[in-house]
Amino acid sequence: MSTQSSNGPAKIRLRHLQQAKADGRPFSMLTAYDQFAARAFEAAGVETLLVGDSVGTTVLGHSSTTATTHQDMLTFTGAVARSVTRPLVVADLAFGTYEAGPADALRHGVELVRAGAEAVKLEGGAEVAPQVRALVQAGIPVLGHLGFTPQSVNSLSGHRVQGRDEEGARRLHADALALQEAGVSAIVLELVPAALAAEVTAAVAVPTIGIGAGPQCDGQVLVWQDMAGLSGFQGKFVKAFADLRGELQRAAAQYRAEVGERAYPGPEHSFE
Ligand code: KIV
Repeated sequence: MSTQSSNGPAKIRLRHLQQAKADGRPFSMLTAYDQFAARAFEAAGVETLLVGDSVGTTVLGHSSTTATTHQDMLTFTGAVARSVTRPLVVADLAFGTYEAGPADALRHGVELVRAGAEAVKLEGGAEVAPQVRALVQAGIPVLGHLGFTPQSVNSLSGHRVQGRDEEGARRLHADALALQEAGVSAIVLELVPAALAAEVTAAVAVPTIGIGAGPQCDGQVLVWQDMAGLSGFQGKFVKAFADLRGELQRAAAQYRAEVGERAYPGPEHSFE
């Protein structure tokens, strides 16, 4: 696997992420919710796209991912899946679609796969192991999500680093092993101290994917609007690799000015 789309496998599969972990080659994941962003990330060689339930906060204007619905996930998963061929497309199970038990998780997981997901992600540790088993037994690959789990923002009392104390670290470690035992293909670690994330990464055979979890995870994930400087979010773990917000604002201001001066549209943009 390579970071260039022109090299490596024509289609990224979970086994390629597993191989990347074995080889010690970090891989990348970005969220994606629409065709143009998804295609740009595919062209950049990004190996995996996550149709995150963060679509609720990044696109739909909600203040929490708990507002994202299953229908939202089906709509945006379809948009991304129809737009790319190479990256592995992972979709989140929305809040309220899997907590009740394995049958619920399976029903919603099947619908995400029908919409184009190649794997689904759910939040939680040992308590969701039965759901993971049901999905995996039905042939649906599952990614776990530990540490700060945004769908539990209310019970976690806000966006806070998890596993800082001994008991929290022990629980996170045990949850990672429980998810692995249940059959997950990878585990996202969010807002976890770098040393703990490194420990968990070494302890599990499946790849870990970090967000605010230090450099030793097997892969990294960011919300694309944070990565590209569109959201303006400046969390400690975020690096903005571009200033899309500034560039968009500049373009819109120039458009407005040219419309105001009748400089746009010019003859070259007009029909005889
Ligand atoms: O929904 C999302 O964007 C996520 C990432 C933060 C990992 O779950």
